[in-house]
Parts: sequence; C-alpha cells; structure tokens
Amino acid sequence: MNDDLRRVVLITGASSGIGKTCAEHLAGRGYRVYGTSRRAAPLPEAPGEGLRMIAMDVTSEASVRQAVALVLAREGRLDVVVNNAGWGIAGAVEDTSIAEAQEQLDANFFGTLRVCQAVLPTMRRQGSGHLVNISSMGGLVSIPFQGLYSASKFAVEGMTESLRMELAPFGVQVALIEPGDFRTGFTAERRVAAAAAQGAYAESFRKAVAVMEADEQGGATPEAIAWRLERIIDARRPKLRHLVGPLAQRFAVGVLKKILPQRWFESMIAGYYRIG
Ligand SMILES: NC(=O)c1ccc[n+]([C@@H]2O[C@H](COP(=O)([O-])OP(=O)(O)OC[C@H]3O[C@@H](n4cnc5c(N)ncnc54)[C@H](OP(=O)(O)O)[C@@H]3O)[C@@H](O)[C@H]2O)c1
Repeated sequence: MNDDLRRVVLITGASSGIGKTCAEHLAGRGYRVYGTSRRAAPLPEAPGEGLRMIAMDVTSEASVRQAVALVLAREGRLDVVVNNAGWGIAGAVEDTSIAEAQEQLDANFFGTLRVCQAVLPTMRRQGSGHLVNISSMGGLVSIPFQGLYSASKFAVEGMTESLRMELAPFGVQVALIEPGDFRTGFTAERRVAAAAAQGAYAESFRKAVAVMEADEQGGATPEAIAWRLERIIDARRPKLRHLVGPLAQRFAVGVLKKILPQRWFESMIAGYYRIG
C-alpha cells in the first residue's frame, strides 16, 4: 500500500491487554498506529515502522491535547480513534467514596470525552473517520459490586449514542465494542474501594469478586476484539453495538436481558455471583 494512503489510527491505553492487542494487530495489517500509555518514552524523530507509542494520561486535558497534536503534526490526519484506556473499581455502591467514584468516572468517562473533544474537530473537517469507544458488557448490565465501573461505562454508552447521531452528517462513523471477560491486566489493575473489605457487604463482596477474577483470568486473550475492530473500521457504516466475548455472556446480555422479566434476570445474575 502507498504509505500516504495508509490510515492513521490512535488507540488509547495500548501498553497492555485489549489496546495493545488491537494496536499490534492493526500495525501488522499496515495501518499507521499510534498507541498511548502514561509511561511512554518520547517518540524518536524518525519513529520508523510498526506501532508507535506516545505518552497520554486521559485524566489530563493537557496531556490528551499534546498527544493528539503530536500525531497530527506527524501525519496531518486521523482516520481511526479508539477510546480504550480504562480500569475498574470494585466495592458496594454504599462503600465507594465520592472521591473514589470520581476517579473512576474521570478515567473511563471523562477520559473518553477529553479524547473525543480533542480529535473530533479534525475528523469533522476531514469529513471521514471512525470513532470506536470500548465500553463493556458491564455498560449494558450491572453486576453486584461493580456499580461505579458500570456507571462509567453506561455513561460512555449514552454519550456514544448521541455522538453517532451528531457526527453522521459529517461522515464520521461511531461504534461501541462491548467486551465480556478477557484475560488482560484489568484484573491486577482493579482498584478496591477502601471501605469494601469490612462491613455489611464484606462476605458477599469477597465471593462476587472471586467469581469476576476467575472469569477474567480464565477468559481468552483479546485477539477476537482486534479482529472485530478491524471489521468495524473497514465498514462504511458499522452498526452501533458490538458484543464480543464468550457465547454465554453474549446470550445473557444480548438476549436474556431483553426478554426476561427484570426480577428473573437479577436473580440469575445475583445467583451467578453468589449474592444473597
Ligand atoms: N479485560 C476485560 O475483561 C474487559 C472487559 C470489558 C471491558 N474492558 C475495557 O477494556 C479497556 C481496556 O482494558 P484491559 O482489559 O485491556 O486492561 P489493561 O490490560 O489493564 O489495560 C488498560 C490500559 O489502559 C491504560 N490506562 C489506564 N488508565 C489510564 C489513564 N488514566 N490514562 C491513559 N491510559 C490509561 C493503561 O496504560 P498505562 O497504565 O500504560 O498508562 C493500559 O494500557 C478498558 O476500558 C476496560 O474497561 C475490559
């Protein structure tokens, strides 16, 4: 492919897990990929081929704008942006302090918003581009003791629905990937609300988190997400939602949640996470 025709991709949180797998996959398929990490070293003058890692902390507007400016200065365009950076907090809603909840929303929701606001003027002016937000099955279904994580992803879902309608007239395509459980750094990076280990919820909390950790660490590595991402960005008009993960999880979220009475669905989820 002519170097000038290769599409320019920006993926946040590409040092590990889903972001890293997607970035390496697209770089291997010939895209010009910029991945971000809070810890990336400065990019050399001539970064060469393959995945280029640049510094970005999505909780800092200055850092986001600097990273986007760097890509635009080098490439002059941005064809694909994937909002992937994020982490999760575990704890009962009652046990999660306002400061802890704000940090969660600041990374997963406001981080996505900061990146959108930094890249959209360019994509709108180009009259083309794909914006893909990595949500979660937890952005469609809440599970016990992940209430604030789900709140952050429900917020991403809601904002993305609006973005899709706002950007369609400018030729910018918007989609959501909703992963189930995958084996990544997410489990080790999970924060726990300081008050979660004691108190009224402590025993249920421990049991539910043990189930989550076992499902995540027993899950597949995220290649299926990278292949789905490639299909989305190759589509002229991709659909909004893309559930990716084990069949049982896709069935629960994509089918049972829609057809079962809420009480039955809740009992199923609560039973699975050994609550009550
Ligand atoms: N794994 C799963 O089962 C699963 C399921 C559903 C959804 N997801 C979602 O998938 C996304 C990626 O998670 P993962 O599973 O791949 O986890 P991971 O292996 O822990 O990777 C998280 C990435 O996010 C980056 N990051 C975290 N906080 C950041 C910040 N403030 N600013 C910039 N980058 C930040 C990390 O980069 P640095 O630390 O290098 O900065 C890292 O590259 C998240 O949005 C997560 O909610 C994961």
